[in-house]
This record gives sequence, structure tokens and C-alpha cells, in this order.
Amino acid sequence: MSRLDSFIRRLSAQRDILNEIRDQVAALPGDILELGLGNGRTFDHLRELFPDRRVIAFDRMARSFQASTPDPSNMVVGEIRDTILDFMGGNAALVHADIGTGHDDLDAITLTWLPDSVAGALAPGGFAVSGLPLEHPKLVALPGLDSVPSGRYFHYRRIAVS
Ligand SMILES: C[S@@+](CC[C@H](N)C(=O)[O-])C[C@H]1O[C@@H](n2cnc3c(N)ncnc32)[C@H](O)[C@@H]1O
Repeated sequence: MSRLDSFIRRLSAQRDILNEIRDQVAALPGDILELGLGNGRTFDHLRELFPDRRVIAFDRMARSFQASTPDPSNMVVGEIRDTILDFMGGNAALVHADIGTGHDDLDAITLTWLPDSVAGALAPGGFAVSGLPLEHPKLVALPGLDSVPSGRYFHYRRIAVS
């Protein structure tokens, strides 16, 4: 598969999953965390899906498209592994993480901390959507969507007890 096709499939998958769980996330209180602001396309989509919700974006630096740049109060700059520590304790209704690199060695390092970080930031019953698989005892994998090729993008629900 060409890198263009792979890129399109990643973005379609994240959009389809986020759209699919929108109503269930909206029914929960709590913030939306976007791990990996990048260009801000997904941040913008999250703002559109959840207009009344605080959407907080994380990245090493804010270099998104101007119209999809968060207010400074909703932008957390630094290494997510460190900055997310302030969000442990579980208030988030949704954590979306698009921080895979496509390099197995780098992604393996990310996976040493990301599942714990996501599970720790989510409220009981909250949702996680991720480009990397999140294996964690508190995260239950949700059935894949027909439109999302197996192993392309993942979504989970945090178990309801804290
Ligand atoms: C694939 S891009 C995200 C694209 C985004 N979904 C969009 O709509 O543009 C991944 C982003 O995550 C950031 N990132 C990856 N790993 C990170 C880490 N450990 N700490 C902070 N930022 C990280 C990168 O700097 C990059 O901007």
C-alpha cells in the first residue's frame, strides 16, 4: 500500500471512530484530551463534535494551522509522558492519541508509557481512541468498525469502576 493510501486510511479511521462514539462521549462529563496536536486537523474536528466541551491539546510545540490552534489555556506543551502527569486522576471523557510514528522501535518506546497515561487520565467509563494499540487492564477494546481495517486504529472504554 502506498504511503498516501496509508495516510488516508489513518485519517478516515480516526474520523469514523470519533464520529461513531460522539453521542456516548457527549453523555459523559469531562474534558477531551487530544494527544498530538500536529496540524490541528483532529483538534478542529473534536471542537466541532464537542462544541460545549473543553478540548485540551498536547504536543512538543504548538505549530498547528492558525485557525485550529487552541487557546493557550488549552494547550499543554512538552513531552506528553511528563505533561500528562498533571491530568492523572481521571476526569477525561475522551482521550485521542495520534502519536504513532510508523517506526516500530520508536512506537515501542511510546507504548511503554502511553497505555498507563491514557488509562490514568480517563474517567471511569471514558473512551480512548488511538493509532497505537493500548494494552491495559482498565481498557476494554471495543468492536471495530466495518469501515476501519483491522489493526489500523483502535478504540477502548475504560472500565467503569475507578
Ligand atoms: C501525527 S501528528 C498528529 C496529527 C494530528 N492528529 C492532526 O490532526 O494534525 C503527531 C504529533 O504528536 C506529537 N508528538 C508525538 N509524540 C509526542 C510526545 N511524546 N510528546 C509530545 N508530542 C508528541 C508530534 O510532535 C506531532 O505533532
